[in-house]
Amino acid sequence: MENRFNRRDFVGAASMAGAGLALGFPNISFASGSDTLKPAILGGAKAHPEIFPAWPVIGQPEEKALNEVLKSKKWCRLGSAKVDSFEEEYKKLTGAKHCLATSSGTNALYTLLGALDIGPGDEVIIPVYTFIATYNVIALNYALPIFVDTDIESFQIDANKIEAAITRQTKLIMPVHIGGSPANLDKILEISAKTKIPMIEDACQAHLAEWRGKKVGTLGLAGAFSFQASKNLNSGEGGAILTNDEKFAQACYSFHNQGQGGRSISYTSGSIGTRGTNVRLSEFQGNLLLAQMTRVTEQTNIRTANANYLTKMLNEIPGITPAKLYEGTTRSAYHLYMFRYDSSHFAGLSREKFLNALTREGIPCSEGYGMMNKESYVTGLAKNKHYLNIYGEKTMNQWLERNHCPQNDKLTSEQSVWFFQNMLLGPRSDMDQIVQAILKIQKYAAEIKKG
Ligand SMILES: Cc1ncc(COP(=O)(O)O)c(C=O)c1O
Repeated sequence: MENRFNRRDFVGAASMAGAGLALGFPNISFASGSDTLKPAILGGAKAHPEIFPAWPVIGQPEEKALNEVLKSKKWCRLGSAKVDSFEEEYKKLTGAKHCLATSSGTNALYTLLGALDIGPGDEVIIPVYTFIATYNVIALNYALPIFVDTDIESFQIDANKIEAAITRQTKLIMPVHIGGSPANLDKILEISAKTKIPMIEDACQAHLAEWRGKKVGTLGLAGAFSFQASKNLNSGEGGAILTNDEKFAQACYSFHNQGQGGRSISYTSGSIGTRGTNVRLSEFQGNLLLAQMTRVTEQTNIRTANANYLTKMLNEIPGITPAKLYEGTTRSAYHLYMFRYDSSHFAGLSREKFLNALTREGIPCSEGYGMMNKESYVTGLAKNKHYLNIYGEKTMNQWLERNHCPQNDKLTSEQSVWFFQNMLLGPRSDMDQIVQAILKIQKYAAEIKKG
């Protein structure tokens, strides 16, 4: 370890406030005679007084890209070239054979399900720990979303529980690479091969993440990405599909363009599916993405370096456990930095109060996703008139029963904490200050708890 951190050194230093000691971890120091050892919530100075890097990062390339499209007066991808160029570049960046840009990540997933003709009576397996869009695209097709519980150590779908969720109705397995870290793809690919049920990766948070040296989104039948404003590659809204399957790529193109045929196949040939919509990306977004792509590799490298450094330090703090990366992970995108908080090492300080204290230190944080399977908009599906018509009351009640996810309940109700990708884009000292903030809160946890 580059900087050996010893928690006892901190405690020792803390009790000698004012001595201006460099701690056992030399990058974490406290100014002499100051109140920097006290948590901000108890009147001390903030561990992180500056603001974290703003997102997105923009400059001349982005201005030029948008102006260029504006002046060209060609704002739609049809008959124009910028979205085509973006698709070419994203293919090169990811190693996929085919790329199709869409108007959002949700619509990338919707297009994938449309091209697969997922519909009433079909079941699709998803993690319970995900953004609502993963669920919505299934419900929009009147198919049944089947939740699989979370591996509490990784925050990812528990791949060992997927097989038990498969029935004769299962048409698709759709893992999500939550936080930009890959799900256990070895296991999921093995199940997909064994059962011949296709796998589609929801890689909406996982730009440039890798599994055994291959970019995620390219390992199953297809992958979906989001370029929504918060994402590591961003055009405000936007999305993309990657696939190595030529025929499937044509079906996706057709679906996203009103079912009018693939790039080179007209719908009059009847060789492509019978449904479609318009979820095309605009030329503005295509060209903006090309400009943002000149930054994405370097930004990803900075996040990786900072996240690795932070993980080493947080691993030394009792009660803080960074999310595990599976052995096949050769790169996480770190769209989120996720860890578990154990209040028993913080004098029983609730997670809510811990998050509040961290925020006061100048460290933005969140408890992250909750129990999606228990949200009323999800359980309400069992009472939806169309679902009752298609599946009947008994099946819908059984569906509610099938959706129990006890590990996810535990993770989301007590333990999960997130930091955001932009917090990993600054200098290393930002990471030191995050650690400093947590240590201060730990030391004064009993006092904070009373407040
Ligand atoms: C896991 C996941 N799936 C799907 C989506 C949907 O993407 P979009 O917001 O671009 O529609 C998101 C976006 O937040 C996501 O995080």
